[in-house]
Amino acid sequence: MDSILVKGNGPLNGQIPIAGAKNACLTLMPATLLSEEPLTLTNAPRLSDIKTMTLLLQSLGTEISSLQDGKVIAMSSHNLDNHVADYEIVRKMRASNLVLGPMLARLGQAVVSLPGGCAIGARPMDLHIYGLEKLGAQIELRDGYLHAKAPGGLKGAEMELSFASVGATENILMAATLAKGTTVIKNAAREPEIVDLADCLRAMGAQIEGDGTPDIVIQGVDRLGSATHAVVTDRIELGTYMLAPCIAGGEVELLGGRIDLVGAFCEKLDAAGITVEETDKGLKVARKNGRVKAVDVVTEPFPGFPTDLQAQMMALMCTAEGTSVLEEKIFENRFMHAPELGRMGANIEVSGGTATVHGVEKLKGAPVMATDLRASVSLILAGLAAEGETLVNRVYHLDRGYERLEEKLKGVGALIERVQGV
Ligand code: EPZ
Repeated sequence: MDSILVKGNGPLNGQIPIAGAKNACLTLMPATLLSEEPLTLTNAPRLSDIKTMTLLLQSLGTEISSLQDGKVIAMSSHNLDNHVADYEIVRKMRASNLVLGPMLARLGQAVVSLPGGCAIGARPMDLHIYGLEKLGAQIELRDGYLHAKAPGGLKGAEMELSFASVGATENILMAATLAKGTTVIKNAAREPEIVDLADCLRAMGAQIEGDGTPDIVIQGVDRLGSATHAVVTDRIELGTYMLAPCIAGGEVELLGGRIDLVGAFCEKLDAAGITVEETDKGLKVARKNGRVKAVDVVTEPFPGFPTDLQAQMMALMCTAEGTSVLEEKIFENRFMHAPELGRMGANIEVSGGTATVHGVEKLKGAPVMATDLRASVSLILAGLAAEGETLVNRVYHLDRGYERLEEKLKGVGALIERVQGV
């Protein structure tokens, strides 16, 4: 298993290009199952999770070509010959469950393995099941697989999600595009990735309104056509790299960055004393001098502070002036980075869903590891300004969500390299 070696090297300066969003691409790809016509995605990120989704869709019969070094994904689901999403693939990546809704809508049946828990939480699918059953599906859990049927096709319905689940909203939204009649999803997720999916589905011929608000209304259509769609900018990669100059000092321009994707996050940076400036190429972030100020954070569904930036924000708070309280309200176990940051000299107390961070002057490099994608990258960020070397192990987590991470950080002056595993 490879590792990444980071050495604190002072302020960073230059530009970092931001890729297409992993969490948009992972729901846009299964949308191909809804149509017999081709669906082409541009601005796709080059990530191992995308490769996993490719394998899953190919196992169902989708033809996929990856063009332009992976930035273009051309798909055709004209001949689907399998409706079983196998455990071996699904257990590697929870987003595999996003084939359930589209397969049910197109084929009238789907068998999808329950993904099982992951490091950050149990990851149940009760809201996915609730919504699809509202559309008339019969779903049974057997041998760890969801066996779903909709023999007479799906029918539009009104429903209200008890929690604004991103994945459940995506599965229900995709299924509803081919249901007979009108579907209303109340308390729907409002993430930019939902709006990007709705934009793509509309380009394919779906009739959707209200995406990005709590109430989404879908008029079912008989069939969807073809489309070419550009994947939206990755707001989590954007926020992650915005923190690099905040932690190490200097000034970095994030190419393709959009302020509307990171509103709540920028409010916290502003309160911490960081200036974020919109440029004609993206966003420029600078920490001119001195320490940032400690700020409190509560993670919430969009447009609140994103849970996927909580670990990275904690890395910044470790050397902030004062004490920061971070509340993780989305996942039940998303502080695995805290004890690893503690190995670097951070002063963090975790109690249930709350982490209290007492800022220290400087962290010290150390060998560390994490068990999820965002925890891993928070350790890389901490290493950018730590004294000495930080060796982050289990780098396969990072490759799931950050394309060419070393190259992008080297490009702004970081001392970082990949160390081949033994
Ligand atoms: C998506 O996961 C993202 N993944 C996650 O990003 C992100 O953290 C999460 O949304 C929240 O923003 C993808 O888009 C591929 P949820 P998802 O359904 O859809 C509970 C990353 O690092 N819940 O909004 O699984 C669930 O247990 C990943 O890129 C139910 O109780 O998130 C969790 O506590 C990590 N029942 C909370 O809701 C359900 O049926 C949020 O889940 C579904 C979810």
